[in-house]
Order: sequence, then C-alpha cells, then structure tokens
Amino acid sequence: MRLCFRLLLAGCYSTLAIAGIGVSPLAAPFDPFDWDTITPSDDLEYHDCYEQFKCARLQVPLDWLNETDTRVATIAMIKLPAVVPDDDPTFGGSIFFNPGGPGGSGVTVMLSMGHYLRNTVDKPGRRHYEILSFDPRGIGYTLPTSDCFDGSVVSRDAFILEARGNGPLTNGDNSIAYSLAIMDAFGQRCVQAGDAMAFAGTPNVARDMVEMVDKIDDLRKRDAAAQKQNENGEAPEAQDPDDMREELKKRSARKRTPAELRDEPGDVPRLQYIGFSYGTILGNYFASMFPGRVGRLILDGVCDVEDYSTGPGWLTNTVDTDEIFDTFLEGCAAAGPEVCALARESDTHRASDIRRRLDRFFLDLDQRPKPVLLDSGDVVIVTGSDVRSLIGSILYTPLKGFKVLAKQLDSFISGNISDMAILALSSGLMPVMKDACPIANFTNPQLVWKIESQSAVVCVDGDDITDKDVSWWRKYVNRQMSTSSLFGATWATIRLPCSSWRFRPKWQFKGPFTTPKPDPSLKSGHPAAPILFLSNRLDPVTPLRAAQAMAAKHPGARVIIQEAMGHCAVASAPSSCTKNVVADYFESGIIPADVSTCNIECGPWDTSCSLTNANITGDVDAQAAASWFNGEERIWRRMSPLGVL
Ligand SMILES: *[C@@H]1O[C@H](CO)[C@@H](O)[C@H](O)[C@H]1NC(C)=O
Ligand SMILES: *[C@@H]1O[C@H](CO)[C@@H](O)[C@H](O)[C@H]1NC(C)=O
Ligand SMILES: *[C@@H]1O[C@H](CO)[C@@H](O)[C@H](O)[C@H]1NC(C)=O
Ligand SMILES: *[C@@H]1O[C@H](CO)[C@@H](O)[C@H](O)[C@H]1NC(C)=O
Repeated sequence: MRLCFRLLLAGCYSTLAIAGIGVSPLAAPFDPFDWDTITPSDDLEYHDCYEQFKCARLQVPLDWLNETDTRVATIAMIKLPAVVPDDDPTFGGSIFFNPGGPGGSGVTVMLSMGHYLRNTVDKPGRRHYEILSFDPRGIGYTLPTSDCFDGSVVSRDAFILEARGNGPLTNGDNSIAYSLAIMDAFGQRCVQAGDAMAFAGTPNVARDMVEMVDKIDDLRKRDAAAQKQNENGEAPEAQDPDDMREELKKRSARKRTPAELRDEPGDVPRLQYIGFSYGTILGNYFASMFPGRVGRLILDGVCDVEDYSTGPGWLTNTVDTDEIFDTFLEGCAAAGPEVCALARESDTHRASDIRRRLDRFFLDLDQRPKPVLLDSGDVVIVTGSDVRSLIGSILYTPLKGFKVLAKQLDSFISGNISDMAILALSSGLMPVMKDACPIANFTNPQLVWKIESQSAVVCVDGDDITDKDVSWWRKYVNRQMSTSSLFGATWATIRLPCSSWRFRPKWQFKGPFTTPKPDPSLKSGHPAAPILFLSNRLDPVTPLRAAQAMAAKHPGARVIIQEAMGHCAVASAPSSCTKNVVADYFESGIIPADVSTCNIECGPWDTSCSLTNANITGDVDAQAAASWFNGEERIWRRMSPLGVL
C-alpha cells in the first residue's frame, strides 16, 4: 500500500479546485467528526457533533417523482441549538440557511458562521432561534456524493492541471475547442459514476427542505408528547409517542406530488430561512414551488433566477464588478500610502496613476507569464488571468480583503514573483503534487471542493447547452468579457462543464418565480410573510438590480439596500441596522416601511475599526478566522462563485 505524506498548513483543511472557479481552504479548528457513526434514519435523530452542534442524517427519496423508486438520499444536517431550551417561551424555532455555491457545504459553513448568524437573528431575552443547515444533494457529507473521479485525487488534480494549462477561454478558438474536449471527457467520466447526479437539481433540494421542515415538526411533537407523558405519569393513549410516530409516518409514507404539496390544506409546518447568493435561488425556487410552506424568507445577495434557469445563463451577475474595482482604486488613492500599499505619495492623478501602474503590470504578465521554481522543486506558473480572477474574488469581501489585496498587488508590481507563486498555490488556483501525492491534508476528503458538485446543479437547473459549438462559446465569452473585463473570463467557465453534461433532470422548474399574496393568518397556499430581499449597494456577483428584479415578482416583497460593497449584506459587512431589520423580520414577518437603506459600521479603508472577519465568522471560529488574514496574510479564494466564505 502506498502512503502519501501529508504536508500542510497545520489546523487547516485545504481544498483545491479548477482554475477560475476557485475555492477557499476551510479553517476548521474542530476535531473532524465521523459522520459514519450516525446511522441514517427516516425520522430525525440528532447526535452530538463538533462540540457544540447537533448532527443528523435524514433519509429522503432520491427520486421524489417516482413512487416505485425506493432509492434514498441521505442528507447531512447540522444545527446550532438555540441559547434557550425548545420549550422556552422565547424559542422561535429553526432558521435554515444555505451558504450558496452551488456546491457549498452547509455543514462546513455552519462551523464558521453559525454563531454569527445566531447572534444576528436573535433578540436577547425576547426571541431565540436554532440555526440549521445541511449539505445539499451531491455535496459534502450528503450521499450519494457527486464524484466523477471515483475518489482519485490524482486523477482530479491531473484534470485541473490540464484545464489550467490550456489557459483562459479568452485565448481564442483553439483554447475554447480544447476546453470543450476536456469537458466532454469529464462528462463521460461523470456518466460512469451512475445517475444520482441527475437528482441533484434545485427542485429536489427545495423538496428536501419541505421534508426537513416536516421532520423537525414531527420530532418536536414527539418530544412534547414524551415530556407530557413524563409529567403526567400515565399518559392517555392518543399521546403515546410511539403511536404518534406511526401517525406522523403515514403522512410522509407516500411521495406526495408537487401539486398535492402546493394545495395541502391546514396548518402545515413552515420554513424560516436565510439564503445567501445561490441560496437565494434555492429560496426563490422553494417559495415559488411551495408558497404555503413559507414562514419567513430572507434572500441576501440576490441572483436573477430567470438568467440562472434559462438561456445561456449567468450573464447578469457581474454588471457591477468592474465598478467595485474602480471604487477600490479610488478608495486606495484617497486612503494614501499609509493605509493602502498601492498608493504613492508622488501620485498626482491619484486613482488613474495607480491604474496605469496596474495596466503596465498586466500587459507584461499577459505577455510573459511568470514561472517560479519553489524550494520544494515544484514549478508554478502565474498568469494575468490568475491575478484578475484573484482580484475578482477579493471583491466579495472588501472589509477583510481590500488592504491585503493592495499589499499583494503592490508586491507583485514590485516584482516579487515568489510572493505571487505562494499566493497562486495558497489560493487553490492549482494543485501541487509531490511523488504523485497531493500536497494537501485530506483528513476530511469530503471537504475537497468538487467541480461536479457545482455542475450537477448548474447544468440540470439551466437550459441544455450540449449542442453549442465553438462560435457560440466565443460569443458567450465575449458577452461575459464585455460585462466585466475583470471577472468575465472566470465567469465564462462556470457553465463550461454543461457543454457536455449528459444528465438531464427528471424534475425541472422554470417558473413562474412568484408567490401568492402573503397572509400572516397562515392561509393555506400563501406565504406567511413577504420575502425580504437584502443587497449591498455594489455586489460583485449578485448586483442590486437583480434583487430589484426578483423582488418585483413577489407581492409585498422589498429590497433593503445596505450601503456597502461586497457579496451579500449580512455576510460581508456587519451593520447593526441590517441586523435589526433581520431580527425584527424573523420575529414579526414585517419589512419595516420606514427603512430602505442601512449604513455599515466600518468601511474597507478604516483604520480604527474593531469589526473584523472574526466578527462575521463568529466567536468560536474567531481565532482561526483571524489567522486567515493575519500573519502570512494569505488571500483565500472563494469556495464557489455564488457563495459566502
Ligand atoms: C492534518 O490535519 C489534522 C487536523 O487538523 C492534523 O491533526 C494533522 O496533524 C495534519 N497532518 C499533517 C501531516 O499536517
Ligand atoms: C421508476 O422507478 C422504477 C424502479 O426503480 C423504474 O423501474 C422505472 O423505470 C421508474 N420510472 C420512471 C418514469 O423513471
Ligand atoms: C517577497 O515577498 C515575500 C513574502 O511577502 C517576502 O518574504 C520577500 O522578502 C519578498 N521579496 C522581495 C524581493 O521583496
Ligand atoms: C469583534 O471581534 C473582536 C475579537 O473577537 C472583539 O474584540 C470585538 O469586540 C468585536 N466587535 C464587535 C462590534 O462585536
């Protein structure tokens, strides 16, 4: 047996990903939890995990639409309990979140963000929630997993390296043609993995959420009955928890059709939810498919769901990206060299002087990619598109990223090549292998970010584009580039695997993306509250105009604008105003009529700001989170194009 030596950043699980789409190594200061110790069950059963959390593995039908197909998906669920017990009068139930992606792991993000979210939604002494998330189909600890490489990290890395070596799609028709061939081979590999990926689309995940909401309700009823039985000694027959379990089981024994679910009468359990980025797509699908199941719904960092589900796709995301970069340069010039390393005392035209230096740097780097031979013997090539892609990803989180970005860019411009190579490696732009072993600590192989976890969702939710040729793709790339010169090349790769994606979904949903009028009296088939949309004024991948377009389709919905830059309001910049809007909405279901914008506490160039990344990722993870950007000051890339953290 061959053993791989695992070197790595102590205490971090590193993940690697295909160039362009990117990743973030996940700091996880927790002992790994062995999910196999939980036996999957049809009823919800929580088990202790990750010190303060509860985990469950819930079995649901793999195919919700086929009565006779008995295969199951096992959903990995995690919750951060409320700070009060369930029977406390201030307990407000579960708030689900989805961290985006598609391909993002709710389990992993819960560990770094759960406490922050709980602090955000809670109203101390008045209202307390448990925070709940899960790995959607094909992702993380949920089974069946999406894996086109049959667990072979070496094959996966070879694929990533070849795609990377071929260069960006902007290199012209030859590069596009070769990319399409790589993706065709990839698509063939994926078919060999079985057909589970055909069931990873968003309608299935929305349906799974209905099931989770029902199972949480069942569990609460069983617990309450058991408690009553304890208190009363002998309990009346009807309240016997086992009987109740049988009765509740009947309700979900059959696979109810989507139409049945839509029209189900009576007081049904409802979802409380906050979705970030792609999570706004999931939330929009959920509300549009199962409006009577909506209790409270916040969509933060909003995607245009029409663009996502129809047409070439992904063309509306980056309309504000270049403007944020302009704002970065202007802010840098205004802050001066003390704060922003890219600025110079001698600059007379401020932002345009900085831009001129950057343009020169990019011109040079595009013509001569920089090779670096590391002490380890590894060869790393850094290209202009690496740096652009990297800049794009930093625009997601100006508060924690701008000063660091300025420092890094300044170091590059000054010719520090080794710094660039280190960055390219640490940001997951490329895998590095030593003696055919990946230089990464795969203590937790499920945490490896997989392109196919994303493709399985993106390709089946969107229109079929398997018949498109090089000239179609050339036009698509050009459209992406004209939307954002900075991020267009990266963004054009997201749909690339769909060029040869052979699975078509059994369950598709193409709208209408709308809901009946909300009704706080819990009227059957109606949301209990209007949808609250949140958006930063400038968001690099989910622009304000998408939020406005989506809100216009849902009666009573409104957009609250956070006066900030970055991806998603709650996840990018703390604001007590936004926090209050969110906490009040979860309690009352009301979007305040007198608030349309919220200011933030700190800007990206502020020097005396106590709010840091640690405050966003939460107290438990504060130390790990801080270490991401202090010390070595690595810049981590994003886990997924439409995700947080
Ligand atoms: C891999 O990560 C685990 C968990 O953080 C750590 O205990 C172990 O020492 C790491 N192994 C190496 C070789 O770095
Ligand atoms: C439903 O599932 C059964 C059992 O797996 C299978 O034989 C049948 O072909 C499926 N029907 C459809 C329409 O997919
Ligand atoms: C390049 O950057 C690295 C890390 O920031 C630093 O240690 C090194 O001294 C720099 N080299 C030069 C030539 O500036
Ligand atoms: C942010 O986190 C730091 C370190 O954990 C803490 O000292 C500071 O008080 C926090 N600030 C706010 C506003 O919560």
